[in-house]
Amino acid sequence: MMISNSQFYLVTFLVLLCIVSSVRSADIKTFNVIDFGAVGDGRTDDLPAFLKAWEAVCQSESSRVILVIPKRKKFLLKPSEFDGPCKPSSIHIQVSGNIIAPNSKSAWDGAATNAWLTFANIDHLTVNGNGVFDGQGHIWWSNACTNDNTSPETQCKGPTALIFRRCDQLRVRGVTIIRSARSHIILTACNEVSIANIRIMSPGDSLNTDGIDVSGSTNVQIQNSLIATGDDCIAIGGGSSNISISGITCGPGHGISIGSLGEGGFEVVEDVNVRNCTMKDTLAGVRIKTWQGGEGYARRIAFEGIVFIAVNNPIILDQFYCPSRVNCKKDTAAVALSDITFRGILGTSLMDEVINLSCSETVGCKNILVDRVYISSVNGNPVHAKCINAHGRYTHTSPAVKCLLLP
Ligand SMILES: *[C@@H]1O[C@H](CO)[C@@H](O)[C@H](O)[C@H]1NC(C)=O
Ligand SMILES: *[C@@H]1O[C@H](CO)[C@@H](O)[C@H](O)[C@H]1NC(C)=O
Ligand SMILES: *[C@@H]1O[C@H](CO)[C@@H](O)[C@H](O)[C@H]1NC(C)=O
Repeated sequence: MMISNSQFYLVTFLVLLCIVSSVRSADIKTFNVIDFGAVGDGRTDDLPAFLKAWEAVCQSESSRVILVIPKRKKFLLKPSEFDGPCKPSSIHIQVSGNIIAPNSKSAWDGAATNAWLTFANIDHLTVNGNGVFDGQGHIWWSNACTNDNTSPETQCKGPTALIFRRCDQLRVRGVTIIRSARSHIILTACNEVSIANIRIMSPGDSLNTDGIDVSGSTNVQIQNSLIATGDDCIAIGGGSSNISISGITCGPGHGISIGSLGEGGFEVVEDVNVRNCTMKDTLAGVRIKTWQGGEGYARRIAFEGIVFIAVNNPIILDQFYCPSRVNCKKDTAAVALSDITFRGILGTSLMDEVINLSCSETVGCKNILVDRVYISSVNGNPVHAKCINAHGRYTHTSPAVKCLLLP
């Protein structure tokens, strides 16, 4: 068989490409925080060692880098930020040991951060392992912010445990985050995120301890995780789209929320799908909350295949959100809500009003579909739905949502 010149060049090129790529894929370098002086006795400040290790990881010439946080150790870290951009094309932090926050507020004195650990500008970051991040939040909860905002900010606002900011292609797997002073995880300005098989745990009476907050982020999946906290289990804030949440068990806590939206200018949330989740003993089940006077919209939001067990207020649309109930705006502007689906929802409620669709007079809520939703009272009381300015329809639903206005 004769081969032409061009075929010969093509074959040679492909062979070279294979060799180069196999060399590249073998190019993995592992770093261990112990080699940078970390002690892991739970008392020594291991932050300097972690920062040195991070410098080595981030500046490594290898294309793939693994940072090992070894098991059977407890690393005390003061608040800090781990920043990119980094040279490797992917960074994997293997969290086998435990990481613990300082147990005194003074560790945050002069810190330019409202977080414990921040990861910023790192693309292709993976954080996995069965280690625990312990935020030691109990020292903050005792005088946490109350909703009336009378306590001075600095005193009451505890740090968020983990912030991921501008991290594209982020993966988080396996880890446990406990006792955050505030939100356990914040994702902000991240694209393509996958979080799965994690656990988040704080007491039900710990204030402001959201599980996962997502804002300004796109293409996010949160799956198969357990979230027990004192505030929202997952909250989706403005600027977020294509968010998929499934297989989440929530409770205690405030359930899964979109919002609150509209407090800070024009806000948009779209294409959110929440499915196959269980809420147990939560204050709210699934809800969308927007402030009066806000601008923007939330649309194409679906809650499907949800089970409620003794939830206080299972289904809520609230365009009058104002938790403090003082100085609430009386404004007709609102964040518009449309294409909101509640489908295949089953369970029990502590309150008799199990569906509360409260929408503003001018903007209202459009194209709401309530389909195959069956919610009964834990106490065997008759249950009912309430609507204000809510437009849409219901099918195969109990209680019947007769108050929905036709589109
Ligand atoms: C939505 O996000 C997922 C990843 O979570 C991605 O696979 C999918 O392509 C995205 N869809 C759109 C329309 O961008
Ligand atoms: C539903 O979620 C549970 C975890 O709560 C998970 O084990 C199960 O595989 C999920 N089912 C589907 C169909 O996604
Ligand atoms: C329903 O929601 C509206 C708007 O937030 C609120 O004023 C009302 O009290 C709620 N109903 C119940 C029974 O909680």
